[in-house]
This record gives sequence, C-alpha cells and structure tokens, in this order.
Amino acid sequence: MAKNYLSESYSSVPSSLKTALVTGASSGIGKALARELFVKGYAVFAGARRVEEMSDLSNLGITTVSLDVTNKESIENVINLIKEQTGRLDILFNNAGTSCTFPVTDLKLEDAKSCFDVNFFGVIQVTQAAIPLLKETKGTIVQTGSVAAILPFPFGSIYASSKAALQQFSNVLRIELKPFDIKVVVLTVAAVNTNIADTRPLPQNSWYYEIEEGIQSRRSMAKDNAPMEPDVFARKVVPQIICSNPKRTIWSGRHAWLLWLLSLFPRFFVELIFYYKFQLAKLHSYKNKKNLSL
Ligand SMILES: NC(=O)c1ccc[n+]([C@@H]2O[C@H](COP(=O)([O-])OP(=O)(O)OC[C@H]3O[C@@H](n4cnc5c(N)ncnc54)[C@H](OP(=O)(O)O)[C@@H]3O)[C@@H](O)[C@H]2O)c1
Repeated sequence: MAKNYLSESYSSVPSSLKTALVTGASSGIGKALARELFVKGYAVFAGARRVEEMSDLSNLGITTVSLDVTNKESIENVINLIKEQTGRLDILFNNAGTSCTFPVTDLKLEDAKSCFDVNFFGVIQVTQAAIPLLKETKGTIVQTGSVAAILPFPFGSIYASSKAALQQFSNVLRIELKPFDIKVVVLTVAAVNTNIADTRPLPQNSWYYEIEEGIQSRRSMAKDNAPMEPDVFARKVVPQIICSNPKRTIWSGRHAWLLWLLSLFPRFFVELIFYYKFQLAKLHSYKNKKNLSL
C-alpha cells in the first residue's frame, strides 16, 4: 500500500478492540460520531479527503485516513489498513455526504451526478468493500440519511432523491444481510449545526431569481432553526447504534419528531406548507402581476 495515500497519524491499535469506520469525518456530524465512538471504547478509523482537518481526532488517538468514497482504490486502501491494524470491523458508518440545492430548471446534470456519486454510489462502494469484515463480527452498517428522503423540501430534488435511494437501498440490504447477522440502520437526520448547505449562486436567468430569499431560506433551513450541535447528536445516536439490538431507523436532530409527525400528514397539506414557506406562492402571484402589467 502506498503510505502517502494515508495519513501519517495512524498507529497500531490492539486487534481485540471493536472497530468502527466513519466516512466523512473531517467535519460536522462525522467528526462528532468518530469522537463519540472513540469515547465508547472503539478503535475508530476516521476517513475523509481533507485529512488535515482531522488532526484533532488523530491527537486523541483516532486513526485518520485519506478516503474518497467515490474512489475504489482509496476505499480498498482503507479497508486493507483496517485489516492490518485491527483485523476486524464492527461498525461501518456511511456518513460522508454532500448537498445539492438548486431548482431543477437550474440544475447541471454533472452536479446531480456528483451528488449521487458521494451520497449513494459512494455508499454502495464502501459497503461492498466492508461487508466481508462485517460478516466476521456480525457487525452493523449505519447510513446517515435525511428527513429530505421523506419530506419533499423544494429545491432539494437531487439531494432528497439521493437520500431516498440510500434509504431504500438500505431497506433491501437489511433483508439480504440478515442471514449473515449484519444489521443495517438508517439515521433520519433533521437539523444539525454543520456547514453542509449549498452556497453556489443561482444563475442570473433563473426562473426563481425573484424568490432567491426563499431558496436561501431552504438552503439555510437547518442552520436557521436552532440546529442540534453535532456532539449532542453523536451522544444521542451512538448508544442507540452500539446496543445489541439497534432499531432499523433512528430519527434524530432538531425537530426530528415534528418532521416525523409532518410526514404522517396528508401529502397535499405538506406540499401546501412548503409552497408557502419557501415563497413559491409569492413567485406565482408575482408572475400573475407581471403578466397583468404587460
Ligand atoms: N447537517 C444536517 O442538518 C444534516 C441533515 C440531514 C442529513 N445530513 C447528512 O449528514 C452527513 C454529514 O454531513 P454534515 O452535515 O456533517 O456536513 P459536513 O460537515 O459538510 O460533512 C460532510 C462530510 O462528508 C465528507 N465528504 C464529502 N465528499 C466526500 C467524499 N467524496 N469522500 C469522502 N468524504 C466526503 C466531507 O469531508 P471531505 O470534504 O474532507 O472529504 C465531510 O467530512 C451527510 O451525509 C449529510 O447528508 C446532515
């Protein structure tokens, strides 16, 4: 294995230690999960592209590794390192993710594809590479999903569909892996205080330019609603994962219960709320007024 592909910070960890791999651990939720699993006694491998952002984790004794979930070689290097270092994997936390918040009419297909590459195909690749190790330990695969997989937040069609695909992938995977006693858990994550929001500008000719504020409020929805701190999130979630019989789905993050409740409401009602909240009704009346004045 090319050593320069990996962080310099790893050191040998005892092979009897329960082991977790957390992807997307250079910031936000992933970093907090890596720390919390470490506190709970796991040998933690924390992976992300920006290894330098994980120096705080390596200072704690967590093994930080260069990992791009869209790159097969990078994934194989990490799995090989785990085999060498602890020889076991008990928890795979597929947490790496990226946002894509644009109206469909403004969307570039390559942006949609790169969002799916991380949020969906990346998860498949990492999972396939990790399954043989998880089979040995009867381990657990945890997917960082989103409330967006369930509720139709406007301007998030690509992110939402990547997370919806992840959710159903996991539901099927759970049944397929049951004979091998590998568990699959999906986190339905609501607002957590991170910097994941899309910041790319709308094109000047966007149909939605008049309600840029509405799009902005969608993009900063998590940040604007007293989001849960990642450390608090991790402290709530990790005990529910490492218990002997974790639930299939765990809702967590600020307002998770409220959004769960909303998901039970008739869909026309949910759509109406979002239509007004994200200023699409305003855009409609603006368009009508403009036509009148012509
Ligand atoms: N924050 C929320 O309110 C919220 C709500 C619902 C779901 N989520 C989900 O929570 C997860 C974590 O997001 P976050 O909110 O903590 O945002 P974040 O701080 O932006 O974290 C995203 C992480 O994913 C990593 N990542 C992105 N592309 C990657 C790639 N190709 N290979 C490996 N790692 C990659 C990033 O690391 P590098 O850039 O260093 O690679 C970073 O560590 C995501 O799956 C997100 O969809 C978050």
